[in-house]
Amino acid sequence: METAADFEALLRQVEAIVYSEAPILERLGDICTLLRDRVSHYDWVGFYLVDPQAPRQLVLGPYAGTPTEHTRIPFGKGICGQAAATEQPFIVQDVSQETNYLSCSADVRSEIVLPLLREGKVRGELDIDSHALAPFTDADRRFLERVCETIATLV
Ligand code: SME
Repeated sequence: METAADFEALLRQVEAIVYSEAPILERLGDICTLLRDRVSHYDWVGFYLVDPQAPRQLVLGPYAGTPTEHTRIPFGKGICGQAAATEQPFIVQDVSQETNYLSCSADVRSEIVLPLLREGKVRGELDIDSHALAPFTDADRRFLERVCETIATLV
């Protein structure tokens, strides 16, 4: 289990990536890899971005983990689409109990999705799948909200 100090240190590393000079998609990909490598219960970490050509559609962006068939998700569909529609973080501690769910892999037991909001609009979201049951704590949510606030300046 990560401590508050671990999350603070990780947040500093996320900020260093966000404020670097690399292309934006490369920065987002590096953040996925960092979070997946450093937090033991984060098994798939990725971004979905709102399609500028088709509003209320999410398109898969950079991610770290196994490939997913869900490369395009309408608002309202699945955990990702629900988080985009409500503009709120959505934590599902047991995906087997969620009827509006798009499965990427049978290994996934839980999921957290947080919107990336800029100027009051959803620009995308951060999606994390875990192979553990009910692993997400308030500390995860607070940490990931701060990560998303930092990243929202990029999208
Ligand atoms: N499980 C998600 C779909 C995306 S994958 O987790 C990568 C959902 O229900 O929206």
